[in-house]
Amino acid sequence: MNINTKITPRLKMVADLVPECSLVADVGTDHGYLPIYLVSKGICQRAIAADVNLGPLSAARKNIAQTRVKDKIETVLSDGLKNIDHADCVTIAGMGGELIASILDFRKDSMTRFVLQPQRAMSHLRRYLAQNGFEIKKEALAKEGDKMYCAFYAEYTGVKCEISEREALAGKRELIGENPLLDEYLSYRRREIIQALESIEKAAIKGARYEELKRLLEMYV
Ligand SMILES: C[S@@+](CC[C@H](N)C(=O)[O-])C[C@H]1O[C@@H](n2cnc3c(N)ncnc32)[C@H](O)[C@@H]1O
Repeated sequence: MNINTKITPRLKMVADLVPECSLVADVGTDHGYLPIYLVSKGICQRAIAADVNLGPLSAARKNIAQTRVKDKIETVLSDGLKNIDHADCVTIAGMGGELIASILDFRKDSMTRFVLQPQRAMSHLRRYLAQNGFEIKKEALAKEGDKMYCAFYAEYTGVKCEISEREALAGKRELIGENPLLDEYLSYRRREIIQALESIEKAAIKGARYEELKRLLEMYV
């Protein structure tokens, strides 16, 4: 299998945030492409490819078996981090921010580095991270087809803090740095918010969510 053809821009963004390390654990691995890529490229010496469902896990096993790094990747049936004792870096990609946060609740003491790619509820995840002793060190962006994604590299420091609503919703610009996708990403998020506001307006039930979206829109001008 040529792993380069399987790594989409979203997964490449996640891989680019992973620090060089001995053992990475990819939680919710599905097809296993991310750990295969990380080990094949020498970014990680070994990997655990974990999933809570047997279907994705057996797909990952099949894919891993077709690679030259098959002996360096172990597959594990695990609900989140429950059956994983140690990893130098944990990746959790392609899930909602709430689910990622609930998985992080089972962090083991020795796990301190995390690459997280929430599909939605980014603000929930940013707030959870701050309140539970994780610090986001870097954010990245990617575009895949007509969709755009963000990912975080976070470290567990144990220092808990509160962040503003603005920071929870939009992150800190300096963590993204110079990125040619930034303006497009901000317009993309703005369009998403406008669409959500319009559908709430159509349904004529303007609750707390509507007010939150309006405040969020103001941050994306
Ligand atoms: C949308 S796929 C994402 C796959 C891959 N990480 C990616 O970003 O392309 C989500 C995967 O997470 C798995 N999953 C969902 N909840 C999980 C949990 N609590 N623990 C481990 N895996 C989980 C699902 O079985 C599925 O394979």
